[in-house]
Amino acid sequence: MKHKIAIIGFGTVGQGITEILLEKKEELKKKYKFEYDIVAIADFTYGNVYNPKGLDMPKMLKEAKAKKKFSKDNVKLNTIQLIEKCNATVVCELTYTDLKTGKPAVDHVKAALSSGKHVVTSNKGPAALKYLEMKKIADKKKVKFLIEGTVVAGTPILNLIEGPLAGCEITAIKGILNGTTNYMLTEMEKGMDYKAVLRVAQDLGYAEADPTGDVEGHDARGKVCILGNVVMGVPMKIDEIDCKGITKITAADIKTAKEKGCRWKLIGSIEKVKGGKIKASVSPQMVELTHPLAGVMGAKNALTFTTDLLGDITIVGPGAGRKETGFAILTDLLRINSGM
Ligand code: HSE
Repeated sequence: MKHKIAIIGFGTVGQGITEILLEKKEELKKKYKFEYDIVAIADFTYGNVYNPKGLDMPKMLKEAKAKKKFSKDNVKLNTIQLIEKCNATVVCELTYTDLKTGKPAVDHVKAALSSGKHVVTSNKGPAALKYLEMKKIADKKKVKFLIEGTVVAGTPILNLIEGPLAGCEITAIKGILNGTTNYMLTEMEKGMDYKAVLRVAQDLGYAEADPTGDVEGHDARGKVCILGNVVMGVPMKIDEIDCKGITKITAADIKTAKEKGCRWKLIGSIEKVKGGKIKASVSPQMVELTHPLAGVMGAKNALTFTTDLLGDITIVGPGAGRKETGFAILTDLLRINSGM
């Protein structure tokens, strides 16, 4: 099948998925009969461009990497107009996350779904704040709203639950959902100072544009909210989830944990309780060294699912990054391609 793709937000993830699509063009065609043209890009730094027959992507990538504005196929349409009027069949929403308002991503997703286009996104805003509303529009328009990249980048979580784990009841989820804070706690254990290690996490590109969201636990809380809505199927609001970050963890706390045979981890957890309700929270916890989550170090993420048929399953993998999140977008594009 030939897909017409629009990319909204040509930053780290937008460029990451473009590189993957270019590198794997032949393999995707041969193995999965997946063919594509990228027909539109909207980006507030580089500009909005559109060519219904396909953009010159190597040129677009080169210009973006050189921090130059796009020089070909420029259009005067604003982003919403471009989403609505272009001939894309699938819109990849890859702008920055705003977990307070969800904007501008929520408007982009709504415009795309309402005009009958599939949406694939790694943006936590629409998924954490408006999942059910977006899914309703998608169902009405008979298109897909796919969000694998919003939780633990390309490490399979949401698609795993819907795919190979379908039929298992998930009763609890516990995990490390934020790479920045896990990296910081790992380095603090080696003796590094909180402020210095936060700067390194920012330089390495793990942290959000505003790292407060990472260290205060809001990023992990957004992911817990997505898991609650999507995996547990229980409608929940982000501000109903108790949330405490790692800002108060000191060198002395780290020493105490070590003495007790434990290690601090920022844990997001969701558990089914009586009456069809769920209990959800984010907080720093001392995890015993024998628990699988205790060995997950650096920027890695991990989730332990408690299931009725298989017991506990832990999945560990990268939770952020250019290619890692780009891959999440590719998996969702391939799901659309296969008719799911
Ligand atoms: N800032 C996030 C993290 C990026 O550190 O995990 C991925 O959502």
